[in-house]
Amino acid sequence: MKILGVETSCDETAAAVVEDGSRIISDVVASQIDIHARYGGIVPEIASRQHLLTIIPVISQAMTEVSWQDINGIAVTFGPGLAGSLLVGVNVAKAIALAKKLPITGVNHLEAHIYANWLDSSPAGEKGRVKFPCLCLVVSGGHSDLVLMKGHGQFEKLGQTLDDAAGEAFDKAARLLGLGYPGGPAIEQAARSGIPCLPLPRAWLKESHDFSFSGLKTALWHLVHKGGISVADAAASFQLAIVDVLVAKTIEAAKQLEVKQILLSGGVAANKILTQHFLANSPVPVLIPPPHLCTDNAAMVAACGYYHFQAGKISGYDLDVVPSLGLG
Ligand code: KG4
Ligand code: ZN
Repeated sequence: MKILGVETSCDETAAAVVEDGSRIISDVVASQIDIHARYGGIVPEIASRQHLLTIIPVISQAMTEVSWQDINGIAVTFGPGLAGSLLVGVNVAKAIALAKKLPITGVNHLEAHIYANWLDSSPAGEKGRVKFPCLCLVVSGGHSDLVLMKGHGQFEKLGQTLDDAAGEAFDKAARLLGLGYPGGPAIEQAARSGIPCLPLPRAWLKESHDFSFSGLKTALWHLVHKGGISVADAAASFQLAIVDVLVAKTIEAAKQLEVKQILLSGGVAANKILTQHFLANSPVPVLIPPPHLCTDNAAMVAACGYYHFQAGKISGYDLDVVPSLGLG
């Protein structure tokens, strides 16, 4: 079963064809990073206009190796995300579904991130390698969710960030340190030549599976404004403070819930220090998609859509965007 996935929730216009929820046939991502970088962050109005310009060429490119007769269904992200951006993907997907007489399914972007672990090019995550129940840590620009997954489509949210998401904290810290946008890769790069020697706080929020990163950001602000610190040391210290909390709290929850595996996903899961610390400390196997499948893409949307179709979850032409959609 071949599914065309469409993703436009934020600043990446993406389309992909995936067979049986795991084999990537095509995977096209048109990033708007260069356009938004000059403003230091995503400008929603520019994002949606850019999606309008690129969505058709991106889908055409994803379809170069495949004929429309071979496509069995369309999966499209309908939330969470920027309303104007989501609208472009959802409406184009509905129009194609109508024109080509194909079934369509609306996919939750956060569920899609988790399904990146089913894609073949995820080294540890080939089809059949995921074991339920598993604990999913979804760490992106907008979310830091800890989710128990008992089976396909069965999600139970255990915790979330009370303020900034992990990716958002990286982005804000990078701006504070003058490292540019997007912040996660910039901090990771700067941290390579630094030592994590600066005293930064960790919000453990004991007794809960929630996270909090805004105090850490404020502490960094005070250090920067006091002056005399090295940017590389500040980046390394900030990165380690986030990694320590994500790793310790996720592993603690994994032990409590006796899950079989931990599944990482979302843009922050592309961070090497985060993945090294998980692999070194987890008592259960940790699955991590390769970096290009951690950040936004449409292959993960198609993989998730495959399991929707398997479960008979088909959307109507009244499918609408839900910008604040949650998980579980
Ligand atoms: O999943 P994603 O591509 O988009 C959203 O759904 O938000 O995540 C983007 C976030 C950004 O905040 C970015 O700074 C962060 O992921 N990110 C990273 C790294 N690569 C991307 N954070 C830390 N280390 C990285 N290598
Ligand atoms: Zn995302």
